[in-house]
Amino acid sequence: MTTATARAHPNIALVKYWGKRDEQLMLPAAGSLSLTLDAYATTTTVSLDASAAEDRFTLGGTTATAGQTEQVVRFLDLVRARADSSAHAVVDSHNEAPTGAGLASSASGFAALAVAAAAAYDLDLDRADLSRLARRGSGSATRSLVAGLGIWHAGDDDASSFAEPIEGPEMSMIIVTVDPGQKKVSSREGMRRTAATSPYYPGWVDSTARSLEEMSAACRAGDFTRVGEITESNALRMHAAIEACEPPIRYLRSASVAVFDAVEQLRARSIEAYATADAGPNVVVIARPADAAAVADHLAGHGDVRIVGAGPGAHLITTEESA
Ligand code: ADP
Ligand code: DP6
Ligand code: CO
Repeated sequence: MTTATARAHPNIALVKYWGKRDEQLMLPAAGSLSLTLDAYATTTTVSLDASAAEDRFTLGGTTATAGQTEQVVRFLDLVRARADSSAHAVVDSHNEAPTGAGLASSASGFAALAVAAAAAYDLDLDRADLSRLARRGSGSATRSLVAGLGIWHAGDDDASSFAEPIEGPEMSMIIVTVDPGQKKVSSREGMRRTAATSPYYPGWVDSTARSLEEMSAACRAGDFTRVGEITESNALRMHAAIEACEPPIRYLRSASVAVFDAVEQLRARSIEAYATADAGPNVVVIARPADAAAVADHLAGHGDVRIVGAGPGAHLITTEESA
């Protein structure tokens, strides 16, 4: 029996992934760009058990839901097919971030699972291969293989759709958790519905591809202001497309909008801060590291406020071989 433990951190996208052009291969409709954090890690242990009749998955110390387990089993099936193995596994995972709250638990979750499962099943994969593998579990997990800023190339096929590092300006993220509860509509379902029913979806995909070009240039130039401007407008465009679904989905709550207002006030006082939000009510603000404490102070009344920075890509912690 082989046991492997891996650790991965969530990433927050500055140019968002929202929509797939191939659900089976998990190829995105457009590329995206994110910062992997140095907080809110997921730690996942995969133990092979040749005598087990099925896989088992515990999340945060308790048996996961049927839907969560199914996603993990489907992922392990892919790994087993590559490893030419039929062994089932026990997967035990712990998220430091709230699960399903728009703080990217699926990104750290499947990045950690990809690294741990690849090691447990003895697959010899490089970083790009691991990024591609993580993609099959959750699209955003593609980018959690990369330390700090990473760009996920939309790619043309399975082989070309992975994430790699990109240079950019130094920045801090101020995470404002206004509600740690689980979202009613998962990202998977929300993006499906947006693609199927939002009249703004084609505009969203086109504008994201353009924003990614501009964002990459701004990153290479170290232009924090431009990075921030593109980040905020890309997030609002994503939410506009989502809110135009049938039936509508609204991830942002009034408490979230209040944070966007507070960030606008900061800019009026010449503190450069820009807001973004994933598929959930919680808001992430980017600022230059020297301004992070002032930004956090200003946002203190809005929820739980935490300053984070750039963190490592998903990595193996331990492996253990036993009879
Ligand atoms: P989030 O905003 O937290 O990424 P999603 O709707 O994208 O929310 O995904 C939440 C789902 O991701 C969970 O219900 C579960 O299926 C999966 N997930 C979260 N954490 C883990 C983990 N550590 N290991 C495996 N799957 C996970
Ligand atoms: C809003 O990666 O969680 O966080 O690929 O269906 O698992 P699936 O969805 P997921 O979607 C992330 C959406 C987002 C934007 C982003 O992280 O780029
Ligand atoms: Co997610």
